[in-house]
Amino acid sequence: MIDVNSLTKEFKSPKKYPGFGGAIRSLFSRKYDVKAAVDNVSFHIDKGEMVGYIGVNGAGKSTTIKMLSGIMAPTAGDCVVDGIIPYQRRKENASNIGVVFGQRTQLWWDLPVSESFGILQKIYEIPEQRYQENLAYFKEILGLEEFYMSPVRNLSLGQKMRADFAASFLHDPKVVYLDEPTIGLDIIVKENIRKSIRDLNALKKTTVILTTHDLNDIEEICKRIIVIDQGKRIYDGSINELKVKYGRRKEIRFIVGDDREKPKTLDLDKPLKAPKGSFEVTFPEGEILVRFERDRFDIGAIISAVLKRASVRDIVIEEVGMEEIVRQIYAGSIAMDK
Ligand SMILES: Nc1ncnc2c1ncn2[C@@H]1O[C@H](COP(=O)(O)OP(=O)(O)OP(=O)(O)O)[C@@H](O)[C@H]1O
Ligand SMILES: [Mg+2]
Repeated sequence: MIDVNSLTKEFKSPKKYPGFGGAIRSLFSRKYDVKAAVDNVSFHIDKGEMVGYIGVNGAGKSTTIKMLSGIMAPTAGDCVVDGIIPYQRRKENASNIGVVFGQRTQLWWDLPVSESFGILQKIYEIPEQRYQENLAYFKEILGLEEFYMSPVRNLSLGQKMRADFAASFLHDPKVVYLDEPTIGLDIIVKENIRKSIRDLNALKKTTVILTTHDLNDIEEICKRIIVIDQGKRIYDGSINELKVKYGRRKEIRFIVGDDREKPKTLDLDKPLKAPKGSFEVTFPEGEILVRFERDRFDIGAIISAVLKRASVRDIVIEEVGMEEIVRQIYAGSIAMDK
């Protein structure tokens, strides 16, 4: 359904020089800084897949979505969505896709939600029966009724998001791009949105690319993630694989009663007979936190080594979850094979 080949987008901005003199110089200079927001990214997504597209702020996620949805043309490389090059055949492409940019609404600011939807029905030539069915479904699952007749500008952030989400699905698009679709939503609405994404995917085989900083969204919706960093793809694979490969770490939290009783450093290299770097000891408030690779250490040995050296009130043992793995990928402390 989606084929992305060496997709690259560079932004040119006038070269900046420091200071007041520099500002003047910038004004007359013809030099540009060129920055690749998306840098040689390739991937392939099948019909009906739901893929999480994640990365830190400024990684290039929204820029990728803009090219996929036809808003922007790439500097190099290309993408094909359902056999169409989106930025070349924007109109045709638009009837295939739905887009939600959580930061921006696609609805008409001064019109009631009901009229915005009516316009969309005309634009996308949605048959009356299909339109009524879809509308009824979204009214029910997202509780649109309470603000259906209000102008969009009067809606709260979460109400606007709900209306926008429904609007992008009204014409049964084959592909939807969701760029932070749950921003600002309360937990109940968030859960409803996640559920409707899963339902629509199961029912209509909708292909979904989801961009969000809420990893719970990703875990609940996607089986596969693509991670980008400074415009480059650094991971593409299943979430399960990621967990098996990098989630081998566990952590033990030793709760200490009084920070004064807590040692400032804790030398476990010798008692554990392990090289530096194979485990990590940190000292968050009220705790001693040991992170280690599950297969390489005996939990008993770690616990007894710490208990000998500090007075501990409680012990919590945890698996390192997806959030922690992704944090480490972002921080560069997990070396990814490209
Ligand atoms: N129109 C533009 N002109 C110049 N630079 C841009 C433009 N749009 C984006 N950029 C730059 O490209 C980079 C990628 O931006 P993008 O919006 O794709 O990031 P993102 O991954 O969506 O981040 P976030 O998580 O903050 O939404 C950023 O450094 C941004 O400043
Ligand atoms: Mg973005």
